[in-house]
Amino acid sequence: MKKILVVGTGQMGGGIIQVLLQGGYRVNAYDAVAAALAALKPKIGKAFDKLKEKGKADDAQINGWLDSLTTCDSLEAAAADIDLVIEAATENVDLKISLFKKLDELCAKNTILASNTSSISITKIAAATKRPEKVTGMHFFNPVPVMKLLEIIPGLHTAEETCGACQALGEKLGKTVVRINIDAPGFVVNRILVPMINEAVLVLQEGITGADAIDKAMAAGANHPMGPLALSDLIGNDTVLAIMQVLYDEFQDPKYRPALLLKRMVAAGKLGRKSGEGFFPY
Ligand code: 3HC
Repeated sequence: MKKILVVGTGQMGGGIIQVLLQGGYRVNAYDAVAAALAALKPKIGKAFDKLKEKGKADDAQINGWLDSLTTCDSLEAAAADIDLVIEAATENVDLKISLFKKLDELCAKNTILASNTSSISITKIAAATKRPEKVTGMHFFNPVPVMKLLEIIPGLHTAEETCGACQALGEKLGKTVVRINIDAPGFVVNRILVPMINEAVLVLQEGITGADAIDKAMAAGANHPMGPLALSDLIGNDTVLAIMQVLYDEFQDPKYRPALLLKRMVAAGKLGRKSGEGFFPY
């Protein structure tokens, strides 16, 4: 794999692009929102500046990485001559299905199409294409440059060769790759982590204690690097809600019902760090 297209340049897409550039890959970036695409190079430039301040990169390296990044406001042009697409758009099933349908029409027949979905079925996404054997899940974790894990998830028709190629890429990027056997909602980490966050919201909703105390307790009592409510703000409360909703809809099990408070926070635009306020102010 030499040339990679990343679709979606938000929090996850931006982080994925950064690690791909640092791994020596040429990256095309596409986002349907012009402002998000325009913000990408300055955002990545800032991240590289921080590496320079820490003595982890020099100007020559940084210029080389930035030269390997192209942004493109047309998906048609962006998809030409690409070995792998990593889709990191918003966690919305209809959006992802329509994107994969388009990508399947635009990309060369050998191009692998991967989704960074947090919870949506890879089989469902792959069914939007005529190449389900070349569609896989590549699930990175936030912040992507820091978090070691990459989950690789096959759909029902995904070829072993496709997963193997994505695993090899993840290993080249220095990630710890965990292969998932079955395309089940939330895969491994989000199946366990996101209901834990939702439970923390329920503890807050029930008034058992305050947000600060919940996070302090989990940091000091379970050795988590940050409390579950701060983590929800980092992931984005809308994304946490979307994942809970997928778990609930897919399993039809009430243990996955999203907390009412989480729904209300999202309705009020309290999305976490990205909106300036969530369970905590930023
Ligand atoms: N981008 C790049 N680097 C970052 C960063 C970011 N957004 N945030 C922190 N870092 C780097 C810092 O620069 C620092 O690097 P250094 O060691 O080279 O100096 C290092 O990470 C540690 O950062 P800080 O000292 O500022 O702060 P902490 O030690 O508190 O670490 C944290 C911050 C890495 C966010 C840590 O609190 C943590 O690991 N939190 C849990 C994160 C987590 O669980 N993520 C998974 C979310 S689930 C998910 O993503 C799945 C999805 O589908 C929803």
